[in-house]
Amino acid sequence: MVQIFLDSADIEEIKEARRAGILDGVTTNPSLIKKAVEKYKNENPRLDLEQYIKDLLIICKGKPVSLEVIGNTFEEMINEGVVLFKRFNKVAKNVYVKIPINPCMEKECTNYSDGIKAIKYLSSHKIPVNCTLILTPEQALLAAKSGARFVSPFIGREDDYIREINKIKFKKEDYFTSEGIKIGRKILDDNSIVSGINLLKEIVEIFRINKIKSKVLAASVRNKRQFREAALAGADIITVPYSVYKELLTHEKTAEGMKKFTEDVVEEYKNLLR
Ligand code: G3P
Repeated sequence: MVQIFLDSADIEEIKEARRAGILDGVTTNPSLIKKAVEKYKNENPRLDLEQYIKDLLIICKGKPVSLEVIGNTFEEMINEGVVLFKRFNKVAKNVYVKIPINPCMEKECTNYSDGIKAIKYLSSHKIPVNCTLILTPEQALLAAKSGARFVSPFIGREDDYIREINKIKFKKEDYFTSEGIKIGRKILDDNSIVSGINLLKEIVEIFRINKIKSKVLAASVRNKRQFREAALAGADIITVPYSVYKELLTHEKTAEGMKKFTEDVVEEYKNLLR
């Protein structure tokens, strides 16, 4: 059964999702931590981030929580990975260290393989790794080969890239068709990948053919249709922001039906339920 994670560092959102009883894990990244810190610092300017993360891990006991490194060299990433694991895994034994597949911030650089080296190092020291920022099937294969337990393709960001390089205006939450966008007779692509969901499908297929045990974690999922397509594509895990998580349960006719059934309850029936 596909697992559902929450892509959030907001403890209230995580608590709420946990209460529903179907949450399988949590993914965070520095941007999500920043968002949570800004929100909770408004309420408490002396926010203790270490305690905050510990509380978050306790709420998620028994469910993996990914915490990301911030360095971009092999040494920085393994040191931070070890620090994160040592400091936080003792709390609820559910920490996964998130490592970028390639920490380069420019096209040309020398540290392009530091991500996979860090994954290999941490995995061989029994620290579970979630490899992040996957935008090609090749990156996914190398992440798995290096020992990552979770491999996270960024669905929405692949769609963003295809739109950006073709100068198509869009809003972040806009749906992007899994078959890609056709202009004239040509389908827009990124090295033959036509959408984020297409990227996910290829990774799932490569892992199946190669009998790879790493789990494919669909990330950067921005709407419920994309969630459904990720499930159909065979993702092992889908992580969604809280807004999408709530959307998964809603439909106008569900609400309308609820209203009508509630209006139609007769006293005799009500009495039977007391
Ligand atoms: O899990 C990765 C995610 O947080 C990135 O999402 O929508 O900002 O591309 P997004």
